[in-house]
Amino acid sequence: MTETIMAEGLEGVIAGRTAISSVAQDGLWYWGYSIEELARQSTFEEVAYLMLNGELPDEKQLLHFSERMFLARAEAEPALRLLPEIPKDAILMDVLRTCVSLLAHHDPQTSDNSHEANISKSERLMGQAAEIVPAWFRVIDGKQPVPPRPGLSHAGQILYQLHGDEPDPVAVETLDMTLILYAEHEYNASTFAARTTVSTLSDMHSAIVSAIGTLKGPLHGGANEKAMDIFEELESPDHAESWLRERLEKRERVMGFGHRVYKNGDHRAVVLGEKAKELAKTHTDRDWAGIYDVLVNTVLNEKGLHPNVDFPCGLAYLLLGLPRDICTPLFVASRLSGWCAHVTEQLDNNRLIRPLSEYIGPDPRPYVPMVER
Ligand code: CMC
Repeated sequence: MTETIMAEGLEGVIAGRTAISSVAQDGLWYWGYSIEELARQSTFEEVAYLMLNGELPDEKQLLHFSERMFLARAEAEPALRLLPEIPKDAILMDVLRTCVSLLAHHDPQTSDNSHEANISKSERLMGQAAEIVPAWFRVIDGKQPVPPRPGLSHAGQILYQLHGDEPDPVAVETLDMTLILYAEHEYNASTFAARTTVSTLSDMHSAIVSAIGTLKGPLHGGANEKAMDIFEELESPDHAESWLRERLEKRERVMGFGHRVYKNGDHRAVVLGEKAKELAKTHTDRDWAGIYDVLVNTVLNEKGLHPNVDFPCGLAYLLLGLPRDICTPLFVASRLSGWCAHVTEQLDNNRLIRPLSEYIGPDPRPYVPMVER
């Protein structure tokens, strides 16, 4: 007989095993590599390869992997054809969810759950999602999507296809860092949703559809666009402080702060916070770093909460001039690497995920025929 425990929100529950990443108070590691080293020294392509293969690539492996993701962009074509049919005010996260669902019908290996097929589908999905995200902004602007240009990095390609011109190297480097930091985070809500989906022996595309729907919420991936809203609204450090105190008095949540696991701070936020403040030095229209620090210090003093990765991301993306609605979809473009690695790991050693619930409804009672109700 298995012992049962009850934990609201599954807090503190170890729901499975993974070799992909470890999240602890003192840091985050992808396959044993510290997030700080990866963020400062590697590229998103290297990290995405690491996610799916468990080892960093050599030069040739990286070249072929990047080429396969690049070629997969062309396979997003059925989704690109659908984009003009979707109402222009649709939320891009919903559009992405629909596109992944559509692309399942066109993938030659949709129902093949072998390890090899899962790796191939992962590479395709990463290329396809990165193609759809910038294309959407072109389409709603009444423009043609920009075809990808060989030779650009994954991050560079997204910016090139979004703006239609040569991407700024600082913007590429910053976006690349956010893609690395967002790539993976063990059993977070969206990854758990993806693993639960394939634990029924469903398939990769279905799992990614579940994951996108789960990431969308403001308590998870949707927090970065809310953080961008905060920065957009605040004019000075003084304004930031009064704005924040008003929110805290009303007991409102401040998006981009707090974390279920990290109670002493999110290491991703430290790395990205430094980057965002460095970027702020070249944006002298406002005291962005002052606004950032006031918010961080006040939330820490008043609530004991540290910023999570979404907080500096909101500032970084705002300073890069990215559209607000691209924030969470960029999280998808990155987290796909982690989701796909988890789906593959789950299917390689599957056991149905099926927890229990504590019943809090009425005691057993007799059925009442319709005429007596
Ligand atoms: N602002 C103000 N108060 C907060 C916040 C916040 N951001 N986060 C937690 N609290 C308070 C909350 O109101 C509660 O207070 P009380 O006990 O007085 O009612 C207490 O802290 C515990 O909250 P909880 O929701 O039970 O704690 P949790 O560990 O389940 O929350 C969280 C984790 C991320 C849902 C929460 O901190 C939050 O809502 N943060 C804002 C949304 C956000 O930034 N999400 C991104 C998370 S990191 C990226 C990712 O993994 O997706």
